[in-house]
Amino acid sequence: MQSTLTLSVSNLLIERAERLLCKDLSFEIHAGEIVHIVGENGAGKSSLLKVIAGVLSPLEGELFFAGERITAHRDVLQAQLCYLGHLAGVKSSFTVIENLALHFPAATEVQILAALRSVNIEKYATTPAYQLSAGQQKRIGLARLWLTNKKVWLLDEPFTALDTKGVTVLEEKLQQHAELGGMTLLTTHQKLNSTLHARELSLDS
Ligand SMILES: Nc1ncnc2c1ncn2[C@@H]1O[C@H](COP(=O)(O)OP(=O)(O)O)[C@@H](O)[C@H]1O
Ligand SMILES: [Mg+2]
Repeated sequence: MQSTLTLSVSNLLIERAERLLCKDLSFEIHAGEIVHIVGENGAGKSSLLKVIAGVLSPLEGELFFAGERITAHRDVLQAQLCYLGHLAGVKSSFTVIENLALHFPAATEVQILAALRSVNIEKYATTPAYQLSAGQQKRIGLARLWLTNKKVWLLDEPFTALDTKGVTVLEEKLQQHAELGGMTLLTTHQKLNSTLHARELSLDS
């Protein structure tokens, strides 16, 4: 797919708790691509996503998005960002529908139910999130991918706690997002046993 949308990471130096996580890290991701960040526990995968999401600051380096330097124009990237942290990110006392309405106040109930159907938790729509399993709660977070129109997806351990069917549904969604000109950066701490067309970026030294 033709598009000029590119996210560039240039010479990043990330340190946390006085531990060097990465140095001189540079890479680009273009529209239509999926980048799979791999590395053992503690390698810095979540930290890297947080730096791109603007939650953490790098000690050195720059981010560029759509030709803009992000340190000066973060709003350009923020407007296109869908970040899902590695916990399910749900409000436990909210029902499943309420958890999604919180992020998509303009979405209709029909749209939210369709998203829940895609990740196979529609029947829990009016159940409080705390009554669901870890995998089902993970799906509440992932259902956001069926409602968002953001182009840049940052997904921290999206496959964790999902069963085989859940993994397949998510892989198909990521592939579709790429085909529609979106980009995805995702992390896993294990090798993906997957048919996903993703470029690997290793943070292991
Ligand atoms: N909340 C935190 N406060 C301070 N240091 C942290 C925090 N979270 C992670 N770290 C440090 O950053 C390192 C990398 O963590 P993280 O990015 O979560 O790794 P990964 O996602 O690859 O498992 C950890 O080993 C730890 O030293
Ligand atoms: Mg992590």
